[in-house]
Amino acid sequence: MAPSFASVEDMRRRAKRRLPRAIFDYVDGGAGDERGVRRNREAIERRLLKLKPLTNVSQRDLTVPLLGGHLPLPFLIGPTGLNGAVMPGGDLALARAAAKFGIPFVLSTASSMSIEDVAHQVDGELWFQLYVLNRDAARQFVDRALNAGYRTLVLTVDVPVGGRRDRDFRNGFGVPFQMTPRFALDCALHPGWALKQLRGGAPQLANLRSTGATDANSQALLMLRQMDASFDWDDLKALRDRWPHRLIVKGLTDPADCARCFSLGVDAVVLSNHGGRQLEDVVAGFDMIDRIDVPEGKALLVDGGFRRGADIVKALALGADAVMLGRATLYGLAAAGQAGVEQVIETLRLEIDNTLALIGCPNAADLGQDVLQD
Ligand SMILES: Cc1cc2nc3c(=O)[nH]c(=O)nc-3n(C[C@H](O)[C@H](O)[C@H](O)COP(=O)(O)O)c2cc1C
Repeated sequence: MAPSFASVEDMRRRAKRRLPRAIFDYVDGGAGDERGVRRNREAIERRLLKLKPLTNVSQRDLTVPLLGGHLPLPFLIGPTGLNGAVMPGGDLALARAAAKFGIPFVLSTASSMSIEDVAHQVDGELWFQLYVLNRDAARQFVDRALNAGYRTLVLTVDVPVGGRRDRDFRNGFGVPFQMTPRFALDCALHPGWALKQLRGGAPQLANLRSTGATDANSQALLMLRQMDASFDWDDLKALRDRWPHRLIVKGLTDPADCARCFSLGVDAVVLSNHGGRQLEDVVAGFDMIDRIDVPEGKALLVDGGFRRGADIVKALALGADAVMLGRATLYGLAAAGQAGVEQVIETLRLEIDNTLALIGCPNAADLGQDVLQD
């Protein structure tokens, strides 16, 4: 499949044209003045690569080891909530595109399709991301994920309360959609999106049905009002005891917190400031990669601002084992559904391959700080 656009940024522009403004802003925006969103990009852009000519790069290999296995590409699709607002069936489209390339897809607690529906319909590696809305709901989600065959649990810890995102506030964005005159006009101006939504039905937070929240209104209330802000290290320990498989903690930026997670038996951590969507004045995960001690057998993932293959190469060179994508694949989903997601993955694959050749490091698994300019 030949990509019909040059970059993730091209896809972002296409997504902007296709989505009503309130939906595009939900995907694209960040907390406050969005300094965090910009910092994530600046952190990556600041680091430079070195050219290493006169190296045999005729054969390149993008495979990387991860927690005793391998990823065919050094990135995966991270968790994003409410994918059904971008496109009905969005979770499925993302999961199927990931499966096609052999990379994992992380299903959010706030997904529009249920844990079970996605598992039944996708023949690929699925991870489940847990938000602790309340203890009972969290226990139910963990059991459901286990029964549905998920073997990697990603606990997101940077949302004890929701971030304050100005664009969403201005747009009155929420679940269920509020049909204000402005939103109605926005929908009319984006008939492709609107027709699909009419056919697919308003997006729900499908996993919350099992908690008794059967309609979009009650689900939204549960999601917004009942994040359990008391969840702490003892609870993490209890979750570690309860979940028998791989456990990953997402949303850390501090080396001491990462070390504490590893010592509690957590298998991997994701350096992340939630794509600048929670608190804007926090460090970019990218800038912390080389400060984390990763014990043997454990792994370090990172996300935030990855839009180019070279961005991913830099993260690996600094010591990350793999990168999680957030908005990049959502732009693809918005622009062209599953085919758009596949185009984003393929473009990043080609860019990584090209970068590895040009920096004289043919194997992604061999990347180290020697390829970075001091
Ligand atoms: C629209 C949107 C929804 C998100 N929803 C979730 C979520 O439900 N759970 C979660 O752990 N992270 C969520 N995130 C954060 C992403 O997993 C990831 O940390 C972030 O998007 C990475 O930054 P990037 O978008 O610049 O790649 C969301 C991000 C976006 C853009």
